[in-house]
Amino acid sequence: MVPWPRRAAPSSLPGPGSPEAWARRATASQTEPGLLRLDVPPEQGESATVNWQDYESEGVQAIAGSATAEELDAARVQYLGRKGDLAQALRGVRDRESGMLLNGVRSRLEAAIAERREAIEREELETLYADRSFDVTLPGEEFRRGRLHLLTQIKREIEDIFLGMGYEVYEGDEVTDTWHNFDALTTDHGHPSRSPSDTFYFSDDVLLRTHTSPDQIRLMESRQPPIYAISPGRVYRRDTPDATHSPTFLQVESLVVDRGITLADLKGAVLHFFRQLFGPEREVRMRTSYFPFTEPSVEFDVTCFLCNSEGCPVCKYSGWIEMGGAGWVDPEVFRNVGYDPEVWAGFAFGLGIERIAMLRHGLPDLRLFWDNDLRVLSQF
Ligand code: FA5
Repeated sequence: MVPWPRRAAPSSLPGPGSPEAWARRATASQTEPGLLRLDVPPEQGESATVNWQDYESEGVQAIAGSATAEELDAARVQYLGRKGDLAQALRGVRDRESGMLLNGVRSRLEAAIAERREAIEREELETLYADRSFDVTLPGEEFRRGRLHLLTQIKREIEDIFLGMGYEVYEGDEVTDTWHNFDALTTDHGHPSRSPSDTFYFSDDVLLRTHTSPDQIRLMESRQPPIYAISPGRVYRRDTPDATHSPTFLQVESLVVDRGITLADLKGAVLHFFRQLFGPEREVRMRTSYFPFTEPSVEFDVTCFLCNSEGCPVCKYSGWIEMGGAGWVDPEVFRNVGYDPEVWAGFAFGLGIERIAMLRHGLPDLRLFWDNDLRVLSQF
């Protein structure tokens, strides 16, 4: 090791790594080229003067003389470390000349360290290759790669299908208000979904969204039609967990508003989407339903993957699994966002992403997605 650079300080001056060094407030001012005074508080002794040319050349020697990465690191700590003289002096710099001088020393030392580090690494590799017992043809250590969660994969696949149809992807807020979640969607005050036993409220009118449909309102409030958009995201309900229900799950909403849109457009979009996702062999049915914000409303079911429609606990012995709801946007919803229902028409639908993932992969229970068991998740 190269000795610590001598300084013109009395021997009582605290060492660079000592606790006192931390307390020392080094105020630096240039006295003559290459020399800089390190002022220390009077009770700790006299000022120390460092010759920065010597400091640099000793540093460069120490760096060049380091044979291993450890020795090089020790030299770096000594000459460039936070407790070293250079760092302390830099902290106290008051004038431009001193700053330039010290920064010059620092960057030359840093460059010397980088150069030496590269040389040491090269030397280590050369030694390794020269060692006959080292077989470079052996396979390397396996690199464990992470992957996207299955639900993220499906969400991205859904986005791709809709992007392919010319839709845009919109992201709404998980925390919303009663206007966007219920009122603007013409959900009346007596509707069970508004009850605190069904919905997580922060206050009387702020809540965790119970579906992605509030994104319809935010989209329409923010622009004029035409709109062709989907909005995927997390939603929350006070549902008791079971094989097909969770208190937090993912939905994807779709909204189309344009002139001359008909129910055939809705059916066409939904069928295309399901065929892309599940293949032509799976059957999809639509049945009439009710949602406060669509009129008429329908629900989509897909044939159960587990029992092939023969009936099992997953499909509740119906042969079908409910995938989501849809409908014609109610004129009252258009009025709530300032659109003229005589001019604009549109459809919307919302689907559960966990249920899509279950169907795609034959998983019997959506709680598997949240258990974070790598034996399950790493299969996808
Ligand atoms: C809605 O949430 C409507 N907003 C959908 C809609 C959008 C209708 C646009 C009309 C127009 P529903 O409550 O049925 O609808 O939920 C939609 C889907 O979310 C369900 O079909 C199901 O796939 C999924 N889902 C509902 N509750 C849960 C739950 N607790 N856990 C997992 N998935 C659920």
